[in-house]
Amino acid sequence: MNTVNRQVLTLDEYTIQQLRGIPGATGELSSLLRDIGLAAKRINVEVNKAGLVDILGDAGSINVQGEDVKKLDIYANNQLMGVLQHGISCAGIASEELDEFIAFDDEVSKNSKYVVLFDPLDGSGNIDVNISIGTIFGVYRRVTERGSKVTEEDILQPGVRQVAAGYIVYGSSTMLVYATRRGVNGFTLDPSIGEFCLSHPDIKCPEYGKIYSVNHGNFFKYTHGVREYINNCQKKTKEDGGPYTQRYIGSMVADVHRNLLKGGIFMYPGLADKPGGKLRLLYECNPFAFIVEVAGGKATDGTQRILDIHPTELHQRSPLFIGSKGMMNELETYMMKEK
Ligand code: AHG
Ligand code: MN
Ligand code: MN
Ligand code: MN
Repeated sequence: MNTVNRQVLTLDEYTIQQLRGIPGATGELSSLLRDIGLAAKRINVEVNKAGLVDILGDAGSINVQGEDVKKLDIYANNQLMGVLQHGISCAGIASEELDEFIAFDDEVSKNSKYVVLFDPLDGSGNIDVNISIGTIFGVYRRVTERGSKVTEEDILQPGVRQVAAGYIVYGSSTMLVYATRRGVNGFTLDPSIGEFCLSHPDIKCPEYGKIYSVNHGNFFKYTHGVREYINNCQKKTKEDGGPYTQRYIGSMVADVHRNLLKGGIFMYPGLADKPGGKLRLLYECNPFAFIVEVAGGKATDGTQRILDIHPTELHQRSPLFIGSKGMMNELETYMMKEK
């Protein structure tokens, strides 16, 4: 007879346990993660019934990035904004869907420790066709005095200053993965109890993988070095770590999540007509760069470490190369030749 002796740790239990042994820990980060987990559960409910209700389609406006905004983007944005404003840990936010950052002005928020930058719904072009989408967030300690409203200085910090970052992937299961400097952990939503349960403790990104993820449709807009590297991926044989497989969902949350677990490289290079590429430094590149680095991988914009970039604008874009350390090192040899 099988004896099942399993202890399931929920996200809340886990974050509270982590506090033990950290001198001076106030529980504010745990509380923040719980707030984000709550918003994620609400977003998940809507994402799951997206095919059923008339919430689909464009909301009729164009966001600051010049892209059509889907209704679920706005719903997700509002849920995150709501929980963060009403919680006790967040003093201000910036979102892909908002033109300006928001400095909360109630007393509790003004006295809070963190700011959160997020992409409420990533890959939203995939909603209509029932493909995985996600939410991405990065958490920074504010640099201005508590008690005052946050300023641009709190929002425009380099990614290296993140204290935590994470994402939720609304896939065949819904998962929340978050990183602090201590490690990366994944929690799968158990819909029967409505809790995120620790399912992937201490995630490490394999040093080598066989997956490369890039939009081949843009091939001729990439620089010479990137094209050479892609050709190299296609030529890999058993002898040099191949053959590789190309996988590109078009939702970076799902693409990077898969590569984080299995080993691989994800690229959104600069394009001839858009040297910054498509992805946003603050909401997409920085959180993933933090998570993947904590897991043992690497992330660059082709020339420098993503986390070292000093942002100058809220919605600035950056090329992104991210994934397994060994594969990133090989990519760098191609990017070097470009200089
Ligand atoms: P968003 O839906 O938040 O605007 O971002 C979508 C992003 C990213 O998830 C994905 O990797 C990329 O866009 C795909 O872009 P292409 O279709 O240009 O490859
Ligand atoms: Mn968008
Ligand atoms: Mn996005
Ligand atoms: Mn988005």
